[in-house]
Amino acid sequence: MADVPTIRGDLARAVIDPASYADWDNLLDVFDQIRSDTPVVRVMPDEEGVFDPFWLITSYDDVMRISKDNATFLNNPRTVVFSLNEGIEFAKAMTGGSPHMVASLVTFDAPVHMKYRKLTQEWFMPKNLRSVEAEIRSLAEATVQRLVDAGPEADFVPLVSAPYPLHVVMQIMGVPEEDEPRMLMLTQQMFGGQDEDLNQSGMADMTPEQITQLVAGAVADFEKYFAGITAEKRANPTGDVASTIANAMVDGAPLNDRDMMGYYIILAAAGHDTTSASTAGAMLALAQDPEQFARVKADRSLLPGIVEEAIRWTSPVQHFMRTAAQDTELGGQHIAKDDWLMINYVAANHDPAQFDDPRKFDAARSPNRHLAFGAGAHQCLGLHLARLEMRILFETLLDRLDSIELAGEPLRSKSTFVGGLKTLPLRITAS
Ligand code: HEM
Repeated sequence: MADVPTIRGDLARAVIDPASYADWDNLLDVFDQIRSDTPVVRVMPDEEGVFDPFWLITSYDDVMRISKDNATFLNNPRTVVFSLNEGIEFAKAMTGGSPHMVASLVTFDAPVHMKYRKLTQEWFMPKNLRSVEAEIRSLAEATVQRLVDAGPEADFVPLVSAPYPLHVVMQIMGVPEEDEPRMLMLTQQMFGGQDEDLNQSGMADMTPEQITQLVAGAVADFEKYFAGITAEKRANPTGDVASTIANAMVDGAPLNDRDMMGYYIILAAAGHDTTSASTAGAMLALAQDPEQFARVKADRSLLPGIVEEAIRWTSPVQHFMRTAAQDTELGGQHIAKDDWLMINYVAANHDPAQFDDPRKFDAARSPNRHLAFGAGAHQCLGLHLARLEMRILFETLLDRLDSIELAGEPLRSKSTFVGGLKTLPLRITAS
């Protein structure tokens, strides 16, 4: 049998080290090198036991195939986000045996997954979203006003791209506005766990156990908060998503606490950090290309292309993990039952076999069948909402802003999972 292609040492560390995701061009170089040498490759730890070896998948076609074959590649058996063993052990201790700190749509497989997904799927369809469009527009207007007031120099991330999608998803879920700062902090602790600026700990170089503890604390606080919301929405259902979840039945019984909390958490968390990253990315692209800014300001039909390209170009969800349900073949490699695989969306969305000049931000890219929302049974539930929010925000920004340029160096967050810009200093002129 041929040797199994393997990476270890520097190259392996570049794939799993949160810091390397802050150095974007270098990261894309790493993925280009790996994809062209060995698109399906085994990643090994320097020291046995630090993390379980996994297959890294970097080509567009292979990531697509795995995403769509939900019978062969499962979400539930192992963690769906890459984790060191120390972190996984801690999660198991916290949950009483499950490696998943939170049980949610992304940790379920068929047939359970679809039963839960169906509970809220309708909510996130374009037809229903039309009913919240006016509310989203008024949030966009207030947000852009804050930016204009803070100008002419302002950081786009804390003023616009972080709070706006949070505001939208909280409104849809029926969470009162005064509780949003707390939700923002908790989400950043959960997803920014690896970045000392975002996790609010002020601690660089935390151990996996410290990170997991921080995440566990955020999960506990989230649970406490949503327990109150559940009681309220059971007593007085108001027709929002939180009321749907609080009163939902699966197989004739209400959701148990862990499943219900997981639902709130996945919606609240997945619903804003991601859109925040693609929104900041779109703004960066426009700030770097004044001609493109002028073109889209004059011709709004270009806007959907900008939104879609920003989502591909930033790929805010950088990876998910899958577990093989049975022996299979992939890219000429034998994948054994229970093997762990990383489907890397950043790498897939920069595969030159699928995208010409993939590092270029090309608003006219067509077709643009990117994988930033995943594919198959778990494809992003909020993709229509994400596009809608971005389109409305940029319509408002383009109405108000006459020019934008960079006023400093944008910085990316250190995270292997959800990542993007954490600062985007801009100089703006507005009318
Ligand atoms: C640009 C913004 C966004 C990006 C890039 C993104 C990306 C993703 C990705 C890659 C997945 C996993 C897909 C797979 O496994 O095939 C996912 C799942 C999910 N997303 Fe998003 N997302 C975004 C915005 C949103 C929003 C606004 C919501 C709103 C509530 C949301 C809710 C969810 C949920 C609930 C899932 C789990 C679906 C399932 O497992 O069935 N996402 N998203």
